[in-house]
Order: sequence, then C-alpha cells, then structure tokens
Amino acid sequence: MIPAAFEYAKPASLEEALRLLRDREGEAKILAGGFSLIPLLRYRLAEPGILVDIGGLDGLAYIREQNGEIRIGGRTTHRALETSALIERTSGLWADAAGGIGDPQVRNWGTIGGSIAHADPASDWPAVMLASRGSIVVRSLAGERVIPARDFFIDTFVSAIEPTEILVEVRFPVPPPRSGGAYEKLERKAGDFATAGAAVQVSLGADGTIAAAGVALAAVAQTCIAVNAAESAIVGTGRSSTSGRWPGRWRSAPSAGRWPGRLPERGETTRVSTIHVAVTVNGRSHEGEVEPRRLLVHFLREDLGLTGTHVGCDSSTCGACTVLVDGVSAKSCTMLAVAVDGRAITTIEGMEHGGKLHPLQQAFWDQHGLQCGFCTPGMIVQASWLLEQNPDPTEDEIRHGIAGNLCRCTGYVNIVKAIQQAAGELREQAAPAEPAATA
Ligand SMILES: Cc1cc2nc3c(=O)[nH]c(=O)nc-3n(C[C@H](O)[C@H](O)[C@H](O)COP(=O)(O)OP(=O)(O)OC[C@H]3O[C@@H](n4cnc5c(N)ncnc54)[C@H](O)[C@@H]3O)c2cc1C
Ligand code: FES
Ligand code: FES
Repeated sequence: MIPAAFEYAKPASLEEALRLLRDREGEAKILAGGFSLIPLLRYRLAEPGILVDIGGLDGLAYIREQNGEIRIGGRTTHRALETSALIERTSGLWADAAGGIGDPQVRNWGTIGGSIAHADPASDWPAVMLASRGSIVVRSLAGERVIPARDFFIDTFVSAIEPTEILVEVRFPVPPPRSGGAYEKLERKAGDFATAGAAVQVSLGADGTIAAAGVALAAVAQTCIAVNAAESAIVGTGRSSTSGRWPGRWRSAPSAGRWPGRLPERGETTRVSTIHVAVTVNGRSHEGEVEPRRLLVHFLREDLGLTGTHVGCDSSTCGACTVLVDGVSAKSCTMLAVAVDGRAITTIEGMEHGGKLHPLQQAFWDQHGLQCGFCTPGMIVQASWLLEQNPDPTEDEIRHGIAGNLCRCTGYVNIVKAIQQAAGELREQAAPAEPAATA
C-alpha cells in the first residue's frame, strides 16, 4: 500500500518543530522512527496533512542520571537503551524490556518517545514506565508539563499528550539499594508484539520484606495497566532477612547518478509536492525530486532500479527490504526516501567488490543458505550489520540478530551456518598479517 500524499518538514530545532505543530494543529504528525506511524500511513489508517520529522533533533537523544532519576530523551532509540551501560546497571526491568522490543531493525530506528506517545496497549515501554513509576515530560510553545505515567495512558492509542506537544523526555526514579525488576513477555515468535507482557519492580525494606512494588501488564486491556491489587498484595511480604538477596536481577561519490524528477533548507517546511533529495547509494551519488510519501524501498527499486532489495510483506515484518542507512540496518519499507536525505545507503548490490562476492554472499552459496532466494538479500545485509557489531557471534546471537528477517523456505540452520562461515572469513581478513620470516 502507498500512503496518501502529505507535506514533509524537517525542523532544525525543537522550537521550530513546536511552531509547526501549533501552526498546523490538527493536521501535523510527528515522525520519529516511523515504525508505528509508517505502517499506519501505508494502511491509510492515518492521513496527516504534514509530517514533522524530528530525526534531526539530536539533542533529544540521550540517557543520563540526574537528581536521582534516569532521564531519557524522547528521540532515544530502543537500540541505545539496549546497549546502555547506565540502563544495564540501574534497572533489570528496563534492560530486560529494551532487548525484546521488536527485532534489530525496529530497535535500530524506533524511539522510546514514539513508543510511549503511540500508546499501543501491546507495546512494552508503557508497562515498564507504569511499573517503574516513571513520568513523561512534554513540551509545547506554552511550556512544559511533567505527567506521571499512571495518568498518561488514557485509552487505546490515546494518551494525555496534546497535538501541539512533543514528548521530550521520560524519567524514572533510580531504584534504591535492594531493588530488583524484570520484564517477561509472551510472544508468538521472536520480534512479535507481546501476546501478554508483565513488568515488575520491587524494593526490599530493612527487614527483607517488600517495601515498595510496581506491577504492570501489557496487551491485556485497552491500555497497558498498573495492577494496584497485585502491588498491595505483595508489599509487606517476602523473606524476613536483612542479609538476603532478592532472587531477581540486581542492578543498583565516485560517479554521479540522477533520477528524473529545490532542496529545502534545513528547517524549511515545503508545500511543494516533491522534495529534492541527495543520497549516496552503494558509493554512487544520486539526486533528484521525490514525493514525501515515497517509501525508501520504492525509491531504491523503482527510481534507482536496484531491485535486489525486495518487498515481502506490507507490515514491516519480513525484513526482505533490509538495507544499511549510514551503516545501520533498516527496513526500507518503513522509511521515507525524504528522511534519508544526505545519508549513505548500502543495498545488496553494494556488497560485492571488484567482481568478488562478499564473504557473506559466498557463504550463503557454499552452505546452501537459500532456496527461493527471496529473503536472501535482506538476510545478507542484516547479517553484515550483525557481524559489524559482533564479529564472533554465538549461534543464539546470530538467531537473535536476524530475528527481523523471515525465511519461508530454507529454514534457518543453513543460514546460521553461512553466517558462521562468513564471520570466520571476515575475522581472518581482519587479523594482522604474520610478520615475514627473516633469515
Ligand atoms: C515489526 C515490528 C515489531 C514491533 N515490535 C514491538 C514490540 O515488540 N514492542 C513494542 O513496544 N513495540 C514494537 N514495535 C513498535 C516500535 O517499538 C515503534 O518503534 C514504536 O512503537 C514507535 O516509535 P517510533 O519512533 O518508530 O515512532 P513513530 O512511528 O515515528 O511515531 C509513532 C507515533 O508517536 C508520535 N510521536 C513519535 N515521537 C513523538 C514525540 N517525541 N512526541 C510526540 N509524539 C511523538 C507520532 O506522531 C506517531 O503518532 C514494533 C514495530 C514493528 C514495525
Ligand atoms: S519488512 Fe519491509 S517488506 Fe517486509
Ligand atoms: S530462501 Fe526462500 S524465503 Fe528464504
């Protein structure tokens, strides 16, 4: 499905984004990672007049400790949370949830602000925010509001955020010593939304019993819900031991190409039906006009003729369309071409060098890692990102790393073997050469 037409703006400052929301109230929608919004546009469940892309507001991407709270910028990606040492040592609950959001491509680009603002009852962060008694900071031209998570989620896809506001930060209190938490999620297969999810955060008192508890559930009601009855039921219970450890986890351009088609200044709102975009694809520069609603995958396949990038689903699920954007794997069916202006894209066509297959391509051949081959370009591109992050992955890490890429006919055994073979080859290539023997 192709989204209905809309205008597109990429503000250079928060102030400018807020002005756009005020001036175009009722028709403007913020675009963050796009992993919830773009599927809605594709199904025409949302038809905004203008998208306000906050992808350039780098000041909204941070994770820090301040005044006894962990503060996370609204544009922080799931991936940044998954790999944050601060999150890892502060909260088992947050660390658990971060690694289980969708699949690697979703985590690379999806943001916590987008997830919470979207208020999907099946999403994970709202339950985590409820259990950890977090708060949400929203800003408009009128000023800032800090809303407790327990007052934020109103109904399915409805939150306390106003159309003229941007979610700029989420906060949760640093758990006191002798606290623990966990997030457990039942999912049909890796990468799915929760069939049901449970977030729990507890702190023990001096006598070893539970002094404070937060319990919340995802995907069981119209919104994620805090379960007050469960919280009251467990407070005061537990072991009466001052030395006991809570059994949960503790963490106090070579040649230029052109496709047929005015480069808006950064911050400029455009009312024209096309936007000038300049990108580098597989080392070649391209520039031309694109409609704001054009998905990156269609731009690559139809405008640039790079048909190695496949379209396998209409639900951002299969990963056949995976490409690298500035080296980070992305589902190109869930990105707008205008949003990658100025960036470097790598598709499967850019993997071989000098007529020689990339070690991953060779390994898929050697290990029979494909049958029909439909999923293979996306699988190989995703595997290249995985090996860049982790040159010596275990089998489990490989399976986790390709969880966003579905193969319908090969089965995963040979795919995993192929990635292991390529990993070995790439490590060998990267190893320093033996010094030449001297007589
Ligand atoms: C295949 C797939 C699997 C997924 N699996 C999971 C899962 O297991 N668990 C889970 O929790 N989520 C899952 N998601 C959703 C994913 O986490 C999204 O990234 C997230 O819900 C939305 O974040 P985003 O940055 O992509 O926001 P966008 O899609 O860009 O925006 C979503 C909504 O929030 C609004 N918005 C965005 N940012 C802000 C802001 N700063 N202030 C105000 N409004 C804002 C937008 O206008 C839009 O209405 C999955 C998505 C896909 C496609
Ligand atoms: S995830 Fe993009 S086509 Fe399936
Ligand atoms: S090889 Fe056929 S879908 Fe994977």
